[in-house]
Amino acid sequence: MASVTGLEGIVAAETELSMVDGEKGLLIYRGYEAKRLALELSYEEAAYLLWYGQLPTEEQLVDFCVKWSGLRALPAEVKAVIDLLPQEFEMMSVLRTAISAAEETNRGTWSPSLEGALRYTALVPSIIAYRYRRSAGLEPVEPNPQLGHVANYLFMLTGEVPLPAHVKALTAYFILAMEHGMNASTFAGRVVLSTQSDMASALCAAIGAMKGPLHGGAPSEVVHMLDAIATKERAEGWLRQRLDEGQRLMGFGHRVYKTFDPRAEALREMIIRLSADDAWFELAVYVESLATRLLDEYKPGRKLYTNVEFYAAAVLRAVNMPSALFTPTFTVSRMVGWTAHLLEQAGCNRIFRPQSIYIGAMPETAEV
Ligand code: ACO
Repeated sequence: MASVTGLEGIVAAETELSMVDGEKGLLIYRGYEAKRLALELSYEEAAYLLWYGQLPTEEQLVDFCVKWSGLRALPAEVKAVIDLLPQEFEMMSVLRTAISAAEETNRGTWSPSLEGALRYTALVPSIIAYRYRRSAGLEPVEPNPQLGHVANYLFMLTGEVPLPAHVKALTAYFILAMEHGMNASTFAGRVVLSTQSDMASALCAAIGAMKGPLHGGAPSEVVHMLDAIATKERAEGWLRQRLDEGQRLMGFGHRVYKTFDPRAEALREMIIRLSADDAWFELAVYVESLATRLLDEYKPGRKLYTNVEFYAAAVLRAVNMPSALFTPTFTVSRMVGWTAHLLEQAGCNRIFRPQSIYIGAMPETAEV
């Protein structure tokens, strides 16, 4: 049912990119179930599928990866802009500014291209890693041409070639989080692009939307929540207190999913393999089932289950990602979905221009 607030139930576009079935708990990318792709593909293969509409042949994949690899190095002027930003700037604000700075003269204008999509996608991990290391007083690490997108991200952050198990877990998360229909950030990007603005501006809008705690900001809140709960014994009292105060539990609830979020399920399976005997993960599984029960008690009929962010937090923690980088890391993965939507929008563009219903006062003389 359509609702005015939050545009719930309103169809804003047709898309060939993904289908989210919130009742059945199904997420499909171009005809393939996302949770299967997450276990079987590299991030590059999944990106190719979303951008080009089909899986690459071996030869196409090699060419694609070589091209991608050549776009990772940060231009000097982008580094200079990042270095000018105050230390206390959040990473998402740094990213937004750096993407603006990365816009190419005379190339940032309408219409958006696949080359642009690949370039911005390649740059985002490099921006985050560069800023992260500079802020920590460490020498930045240049991308390694032998490594793929996901491994390179970890490599540029730490300076060490990552463990294959970490790359596999993070790849699964990246593929599961890369695209999700008309979510707030994707919609924000499509609205900006629909004015025939450039890809960098649309991505800045998307990054701004992603930054909010109700969208991409949830996973670090999940870690804070589990750290605050600390033990199984404290869990029920802590959760009840939050719910009694009318607060939301981060990592639970979704506008579309009214059953288990398939992404959360797939990530839980992945994380079981990675950190089966980890006490923190055991606590997360315990809190998930307890909170689901309590949400049903406090909010009957609302169908509130874990969303992707809950187990994303567990994966990110397992690969030693600092919690300040959780939302930026979600952004690394979502770049492919955003840019695919921008290209799709350009292919059938009509400016977004919804209406509002005026509920304010009328002049006394006006005829109604
Ligand atoms: N904890 C407690 N109660 C909740 C939660 C939650 N996490 N989520 C929704 N509710 C309650 C609301 O209080 C509301 O109760 P009411 O009917 O008594 O007023 C009811 O469920 C419906 O909530 P809405 O706000 O209408 O749901 P909406 O679809 O607008 O919000 C959202 C979806 C933003 C994801 C919400 O569930 C939420 O805030 N979750 C916590 C933040 C979070 O985990 N965000 C990540 C989402 S996934 C992503 O963006 C990738």
